[in-house]
Amino acid sequence: MKKIILTGDRPTGKLHVGHYVGSLKRRVELQNSGEYDDIYIMIADAQALTDNADNPEKVRQNIIEVALDYLACGLEPEKSTLFIQSQIPQLTELAFYYMNLVTVSRLQRNPTVKSEIKMRNFETSIPVGFFCYPISQAADITAFQATVVPVGEDQLPMLEQTKEIVRKFNSVYGETLVEPEILLPDNEACLRLPGIDGKAKMSKSLGNCIYLSEEPEEIRKKIMSMYTDPEHIRVEDPGKLEGNTVFTYLDAFCKDEYFAEFLPEYANLQELKDHYTRGGLGDVKVKKFLNNVIQTELEPIRKRRQEYQKNIDYVYEILKKGSEKAEQVAAQTLNDVKNSMKINYFQDPELIAEQKKKYQ
Ligand code: TRP
Repeated sequence: MKKIILTGDRPTGKLHVGHYVGSLKRRVELQNSGEYDDIYIMIADAQALTDNADNPEKVRQNIIEVALDYLACGLEPEKSTLFIQSQIPQLTELAFYYMNLVTVSRLQRNPTVKSEIKMRNFETSIPVGFFCYPISQAADITAFQATVVPVGEDQLPMLEQTKEIVRKFNSVYGETLVEPEILLPDNEACLRLPGIDGKAKMSKSLGNCIYLSEEPEEIRKKIMSMYTDPEHIRVEDPGKLEGNTVFTYLDAFCKDEYFAEFLPEYANLQELKDHYTRGGLGDVKVKKFLNNVIQTELEPIRKRRQEYQKNIDYVYEILKKGSEKAEQVAAQTLNDVKNSMKINYFQDPELIAEQKKKYQ
């Protein structure tokens, strides 16, 4: 069986370091591993509209931002197909058929949907399109026969729901769709990178993000203001690592070679942590080190972004070509789906023969 990746993001803002360690970095590694037959990276504008119906301009403006961030991180159009969800009408058609295989109560139990309903104050009036987006996500994944979906932990319920739809479809209509596997980050810190304020999630609305495209000085200021251990007041005080954002970020970003380069008194992160918990290591020193680490990681990304920013025509061309290719693939799957569901009336000579016989 072919190994195929599909994943994507909603274009509601620029991508941040949480996206980077949680998913983007992995995608680029998977792309460059050469182990996959096809890689599809989707800008999920239709899904973004499910809870931004009154703000299409936001979605429209952020398509290019997400595309630039993708390319900046090292996704390459020769190796990965970058495309825009709304340009693939087959996805909507698949979702419509899958809707028959899912109950309202099952959607209501989806933990991601549940928490998003709360977050957006949709409790009393849930838009139907929003409510159904897990079904549309199943369409995205299955349309490309994806075997692997690299995403953040918050997407686990979506993948569970997709698998259920696949099983149900295959059992009702015959083996047609491929059941995907989720691929989560293998590092705990990458799984849920907190905001710079230590709050559980990095999010634009909380204003606690470090964006991939941000200028070095802005990044430095944010790192120097990061939440640490509030009881670690004097340098001599023993410090706590749990909930200490600076150390969580080091867990996510640090490699041993950065110590040789920027902080040679320590061989690795464990030694630094030991010193911190023992006492005698100040926050400023750790923050400065983290700043060096993050700047080193983000510099090539920012540089590559700046190059692509000079060539916006080319970026839209990449998305257009990618969308054309994606549409062909999705059309093939839709065709298979319609055959399995026997809604292929004009391609089915047996049907006509059968009907003729009935009236002979
Ligand atoms: N739900 C994803 C997000 O919020 C975006 C998305 C839409 C997606 N369709 C997908 C991710 C299919 C993986 C696979 O970022």
